[in-house]
Amino acid sequence: MHTYLVTGGAGFIGSNYIHYMFKKYGDDIRIINVDVLTYAGNLENLRDIENKPGYSFVKADITDKAAIEKIFADNPDIDRVVHFAAESHVDRSIRNPEVFVQTNVMGTAVMLNAAKAAWELPDGTFKPDHKFLHVSTDEVYGTLPDDDNAYFYETTPYDPHSPYSASKAGSDMLVKSYMDTYKFPANITNCSNNYGPYQFPEKLIPLMINNALNGKKLPVYGDGLNVRDWLYVEDHAKAIDMVQEQGRLFETYNIGGHNEKRNIEIVNIIIDTLREELDDSDPRKAYVTKDLITYVEDRKGHDRRYAIAPDKIKSEIGWEPETMFKEGIRKTIRWYFDHEDWMKNVTSGDYQKYYETMYNV
Ligand code: NAD
Ligand code: DAU
Repeated sequence: MHTYLVTGGAGFIGSNYIHYMFKKYGDDIRIINVDVLTYAGNLENLRDIENKPGYSFVKADITDKAAIEKIFADNPDIDRVVHFAAESHVDRSIRNPEVFVQTNVMGTAVMLNAAKAAWELPDGTFKPDHKFLHVSTDEVYGTLPDDDNAYFYETTPYDPHSPYSASKAGSDMLVKSYMDTYKFPANITNCSNNYGPYQFPEKLIPLMINNALNGKKLPVYGDGLNVRDWLYVEDHAKAIDMVQEQGRLFETYNIGGHNEKRNIEIVNIIIDTLREELDDSDPRKAYVTKDLITYVEDRKGHDRRYAIAPDKIKSEIGWEPETMFKEGIRKTIRWYFDHEDWMKNVTSGDYQKYYETMYNV
């Protein structure tokens, strides 16, 4: 039986991962979710499992060395760390880079050091079968040319452009340095864009769904032709678990959906799917149309194209994405339909201020 310390488990991917893990392993695992609950962290995402005997929540900041060391000291059975906690939104990093360095770089350093101290044996080796998985992004590789044949491989040199991706690249390098220097038992995963339930509506897909349903403009940056490689979040959760259990230690694995789409295509698919899902008698059907699309000023330093080559994870571990985009986007839209209160709660208060400043409205 493994005991997991999951950081950032109240966020989008972390909460989906915790759901996935309990669905897969039932009572055979313990998960300690450590999250400081920034604007992006929401315990509502975990309401249905909060009373599970194997689950516990600790509100703590990953940059708080004493708090993180105490969690390891209080739970000597922790033998898995899955590190999601981060500032994750590129646009916010362009406006306010410092917190990205603090959380993503310093926070990762604290997590590595605390796990190393808890797991290291007197001879400098580590307790057997103890593993740290660092969840990272394809954005560390920079951008690809607008060419359908170019892909990011694990060997692609790092070339981050935004403060977000630079801070994630820094955190990846720290993990790598612990593996190289101490033989610290870890893996790094670099994943493409996720979508699915519980995603905060600052990111493209939930923002467009929420705006459309409220008859608000759909702000497409630049020419709308930037490409992202979209993966259903549950497929990412499964990949993380498979890498941790079946991957070779010290290796990096790219995770991606082979599902590259231009942003404008995504927005069109969202509108088409929303219209199919809305009842003819629903008054929103009158305004959920492509007339809502509006082109706005481009993101500064906007990376043109991301595309993951998931060959290594497929050949070594046998992971492949399972959810086709057509099916995944419909499931996602239905989830947002069924969770209107969730959306209302997360878009009240500070979100309005963020939206007005970010989009000049
Ligand atoms: P998110 O912003 O939805 O969630 C981040 C979580 O981390 C929140 O619950 C937040 O409260 C918590 N957190 C932030 N700062 C913290 C701190 N100092 N201490 C403790 N907790 C803190 O992010 P996400 O989209 O779920 O991304 C999770 C991870 O996956 C990140 O590391 C991100 O870089 C990576 N990633 C995301 C994507 C994507 O498409 N969203 C793709 C690839 C990789
Ligand atoms: O590639 C993985 C990364 O994907 C993760 O590491 C990040 O944490 C995650 O936020 C995501 O980054 P992106 O910048 O690609 O995602 P975002 O949803 O912010 O934007 C997707 C694309 O849509 C991007 O080209 C910018 C564009 N966009 C975004 C918003 C919010 C718009 O055109 N309009 C918008 O309002």
